Amino acid sequence: MKEVQDYYFKKAQREGYPARSVYKLEEVQQKYGFLKRGHRVLDLGGYPGSWSMYSAKTVGDKGLVVTVDLQAGQRRLESSRAPIEFVRGDIMREETLAAIERLSPQFQVVLSDMAPQTTGSKWADHQKSLVLCRQALALARRLLTPGGAFYCKVFDGEDFKEFFEQTKREFRQTKIVKPKSSRPESREVFVLGLEFVGDTQGG
Ligand SMILES: C[S@@+](CC[C@H](N)C(=O)[O-])C[C@H]1O[C@@H](n2cnc3c(N)ncnc32)[C@H](O)[C@@H]1O
Repeated sequence: MKEVQDYYFKKAQREGYPARSVYKLEEVQQKYGFLKRGHRVLDLGGYPGSWSMYSAKTVGDKGLVVTVDLQAGQRRLESSRAPIEFVRGDIMREETLAAIERLSPQFQVVLSDMAPQTTGSKWADHQKSLVLCRQALALARRLLTPGGAFYCKVFDGEDFKEFFEQTKREFRQTKIVKPKSSRPESREVFVLGLEFVGDTQGG
């Protein structure tokens, strides 16, 4: 399995991406095609920037990528790509949300690859991951245009089902995805929501 991981690491280096995690987005995009030219993309937990770079390339120069992270990232402005605007901040804080809304009040796609600081306790890490995921979903609810898409990393565990059920109420189609480039031993899985409709059961 190490060979597979080395394969993605080397591929990312060759293709100029700062992290191998880019293939966890590329694989679902190739299958479902939810990033489209001209789209506005909100990338939560976007440092060091692989998902943002890939999104910027895919949506093109008429689109926009807003990257949010606790850590400071770099803006890359290249003519064939969408501009990438960087917001440094905690997505749990209202001032960060206000900074996002100043850049764009609406998005067609909300991505979250956010990961908490791990503690070594599977239960605690799962719960901390869910706090971030619920906030990502709340942001999607606030900022997505009708028909928009949501793609979010979750550390699996006993309360995953409740989060997935909530996502199902907001999107016409939902899937649980485990990309090939995600380490099999890792508890991360991804929730994909397509065709945002808002909470259809008032929850
Ligand atoms: C796995 S990395 C993201 C990698 C990125 N998708 C890429 O392809 O380059 C997870 C990120 O989530 C960020 N993060 C964790 N909690 C956050 C929070 N409350 N607000 C904003 N970012 C957060 C971390 O700082 C970290 O950079």
